Amino acid sequence: MAIVVVCDFDNLEPWINALKEVDPSVDIIKINEVKDKSSVGFVLAWNYPHGLFRKYPGVKTISSMGAGVDHLVNDPLLPENINIVRIVDPRLSQDMFEFALAVIMNRLRQLTQFRENQMRGIWKKKRYLRISNIRVGIMGTGAIGNHLATKLHNAGFKVAGWGRTAGKPADYKKYHGQEQLPDLLKSSDLLICLLPLTPATKDILNKNNLRMLPRNAWLVNLGRGEHVVDEDLIELLDSEHLDGANLDVFREEPLPEVHPFWKHPKIFITPHLASLPFPESVAPQIIDNYHRTMENKPLLNMVDRQLGY
Ligand code: GLV
Repeated sequence: MAIVVVCDFDNLEPWINALKEVDPSVDIIKINEVKDKSSVGFVLAWNYPHGLFRKYPGVKTISSMGAGVDHLVNDPLLPENINIVRIVDPRLSQDMFEFALAVIMNRLRQLTQFRENQMRGIWKKKRYLRISNIRVGIMGTGAIGNHLATKLHNAGFKVAGWGRTAGKPADYKKYHGQEQLPDLLKSSDLLICLLPLTPATKDILNKNNLRMLPRNAWLVNLGRGEHVVDEDLIELLDSEHLDGANLDVFREEPLPEVHPFWKHPKIFITPHLASLPFPESVAPQIIDNYHRTMENKPLLNMVDRQLGY
């Protein structure tokens, strides 16, 4: 048996090396090198063509290469019996916190604006906001969202989180369920989306919801592009309801050249890198789940395919 890898990255070597380092006895094979499709039991996948796994009748487990599993649960042709597991990694959570902190601090101290002034030879002081001045709302209070909310709370921000269910008590204010979404939105000067993409969260950052944010609020989308209704976001930025948005994820990636987000003065784009899975950091849990699959043991970080995460 082996771990079979299918993904849209150019360079798989770091993954193969990291997995081999953890367990040299496991073969790591690229999907196009598989000779006998029925022998494949465990797959490591990221963005593969839908329907692919109908041709691999022996697959028991597919591990996502990242935290997100929308590329798997959205495959209408993925056989029902296949278990999906995802990556839960403290490094992913910490990197997301570090990225979000950078974005928030840039919002507070407007470093990008000063750089633009510099290019135009302008020396102009401006009042700035402080950590204690803004309320941060976090949509998604799973492993990554909870880490982010806790760290921001500890750094002195006023933080509230919102999730599908109440979950465990936390040091920050928690809202949950559809009825409490307005409570979160109305009290978020800066809203960070870290939700998983599911039928319930698709298009959640639409006009109606974004309008509930206070005037001059800022949006940071670190979840998935499909959470945002692009035209609605542009409308609210143009009507000055929102002051700006940092977007790391998009409906189509790379963001098409003609997309209006590129040139929008209030939109700040990064190419989906807020938090990247590091092969060395996540290889142990992948190897662990491989052995659990082979030994028919309960898997780590199982995804509920009904819920979609
Ligand atoms: C990145 O988007 C991930 O899901 O890990």
